[in-house]
Amino acid sequence: MRYVPLSCVREGMTLADDLYDDEGHFLLVGGTCLTKTNLESIDRLLYSGIYIEDKLSEGIIHENAVNSRIRERTLREVRDIFVQTEAGNVDIEETVRAARQQVDSIVEEISGNKDILINMMDLQAFDDYTYNHSVNVAILSISLGVALGISKPELCKLGFAALLHDIGKVFVPKDILNKPDKLTENEFEEMKTHSKLGWDHIKKGLGISEDVLVGILQHHEKYGGGGYPDNLEGESISLFGRIIAAADVYDALTSQRPYRKAMLPSDAVEYVMASIVTQFDPMIVSTLVRKIAPYPVGTCVKMSNGMTAIVKENNKEVCLRPKVRVYMENGEDVEPYELDLAGFENLNIIITEIV
Ligand SMILES: [Fe+2]
Repeated sequence: MRYVPLSCVREGMTLADDLYDDEGHFLLVGGTCLTKTNLESIDRLLYSGIYIEDKLSEGIIHENAVNSRIRERTLREVRDIFVQTEAGNVDIEETVRAARQQVDSIVEEISGNKDILINMMDLQAFDDYTYNHSVNVAILSISLGVALGISKPELCKLGFAALLHDIGKVFVPKDILNKPDKLTENEFEEMKTHSKLGWDHIKKGLGISEDVLVGILQHHEKYGGGGYPDNLEGESISLFGRIIAAADVYDALTSQRPYRKAMLPSDAVEYVMASIVTQFDPMIVSTLVRKIAPYPVGTCVKMSNGMTAIVKENNKEVCLRPKVRVYMENGEDVEPYELDLAGFENLNIIITEIV
């Protein structure tokens, strides 16, 4: 199977995975040969792309870190919490309980499959940034937590804090939140209030534990100091705060926004690594680099020597250099063949673009 951006999906292509709508309802079964009507439904859902099966990608198996149904349900619950909070509804206990259940399911999935690399392309199904970002940060944080050996009950708390880390943004004026240009100094000061406002709101009467609250409050603190709201440093920042901070920045960098293109995962990894100590806990960054598959299986990539290929398998020790199936050279179709980018003879070839 391979990942095809929605703009390139055509009638007659074969859907690889089951597909769910934005309410988590089943839409299409994997193996469906797509019709014009199917394409219209997929288009309405704002998927950025889908996985298809074809001859070129035969034998390439992409494994989701988290079942797409659980992911979509979590997306729906987090959306409900944000919408209800914004509407001033204080009676959100039921929604919070439902969201917690979804986080528990994510913890079960990820902790049951410790070896899996997080496939960032899984994490970008819909185009709704705030809610997607919240779910992505939860999945990434839980994965980091699993790799760091955190116990299951603590992982559930960590995931819940990560899911709600930006809840305070509902209290920030929309014109600042959605401003496509750089924020002025005053606007940025206003934006910075969101972690404290979120913490302040969520601590009221919902029985949420102190670790979760502190994780939300501290997700913009920096390991080297200079973060907000309390300008903490090093391990005076809670473990949850440090984990969510790294997951938050990584996902923000690799997501496409109205005002900028998504950063290439390899560049985002470089950015996070370059910010070790000043911004992030080194122990968490080294875990993040090991756990993320920057080029997920099934992704089409272009390389510095003019080749175009599908990622076939990730090398677990060298995530940035996967095994690929080359099918084009300098724009010309070629008989597909395989190449291990981690092989000594191929180290001069680098991935330059996700197609
Ligand atoms: Fe934030």
